[in-house]
Amino acid sequence: MVRSNNPKEWLKKRVMSGMRPTGKLHIGHYMGVLRNWTAFQDEYASYFCVADWHALTTKYNATDDLKQNIIDVVTDWLASGIDPDKSIIYVQSLVPETSELHLLLSMITPRNWVERDPTLKDTVKMIRGGEEIVSYGLMGYPVLQTADIIQFNASVVPVGRDQLAHLEISRDIARRFNHIYGTDYFVEPQPKLTQTPLLKGIDGQKMGKSHNNDIKISDTREDTTKKIMRAITDRSRIKKTDPGHPDECEAICPYYEIFADEQTVKKQRYNCENALWGCADCKRELACIINKYFEGIRAGRRELEQNPDYVSNVIKSGSEKARAAASESLKKVKEIMKMY
Ligand code: TRP
Repeated sequence: MVRSNNPKEWLKKRVMSGMRPTGKLHIGHYMGVLRNWTAFQDEYASYFCVADWHALTTKYNATDDLKQNIIDVVTDWLASGIDPDKSIIYVQSLVPETSELHLLLSMITPRNWVERDPTLKDTVKMIRGGEEIVSYGLMGYPVLQTADIIQFNASVVPVGRDQLAHLEISRDIARRFNHIYGTDYFVEPQPKLTQTPLLKGIDGQKMGKSHNNDIKISDTREDTTKKIMRAITDRSRIKKTDPGHPDECEAICPYYEIFADEQTVKKQRYNCENALWGCADCKRELACIINKYFEGIRAGRRELEQNPDYVSNVIKSGSEKARAAASESLKKVKEIMKMY
């Protein structure tokens, strides 16, 4: 176990999760992931990692924006309620001990375990269709992620569905290590999925920066309203006087279900089905609801943007704490393996 000088901390269970620094986060990240993370902060010792090495597994040649992306991600986390007094926020590459554990784990991981990881297979397929290479490092993606998690002996990993395959490998590797070296040192980490349904983009497709269909946590009210107003809604509704079909509206109606209260949803459906509201009315109202929902978070974010030193100190001190824990854990692993 990762020991801590503070006996209370030592008794706490640990939670660990991470994100690649892809830039400013969207409201799907907030609803689906960050709210899930903040729920653990009080009861678990929490480690949240900006996985910059994982970003390099595919974006090794796009490092110009890497630093700023890390800062943007951490700023979004802080604005969303990840509290550095409760949780350890750190940057993966500032904890080099993780890479040593990754190397040791890579020695005991059968090659076919990573080769059959479906999430990784998808990435490989996507890359093969383009210009980039499938690197040796990319094949180690789930092994590196395993090192992230089990170095803190985290028992819970709040993630999205796409990470379940990686996490299964993590449990297999932890179990295999324990078996080979006759120990029960590593805990097998369990996933914790969020309750919120996946938030689609304003075009009804998967929300993402590359699809240009996302609303950012950091967007202004005006940006948000503009983006929502240009969403495509009910294609069978030509004139405003035509009755609408809320169940066929993939872009706007699902947002009402998530962000509006029951009564507002009822009113919206009624007004749509009875042609009292046109799609533009419906969108305008939704923009108001979403802007209100994120008002406080956005105000907090703007304040953080004015305090770059604060954000960089959070990163520095969190990474030092993560490093201290990772270093103790690595020492223990090397003892178990009877390394020199
Ligand atoms: N692979 C994760 C993602 O793309 C990011 C990640 C890196 C992670 N290390 C982790 C998630 C450890 C959970 C635990 O979202």
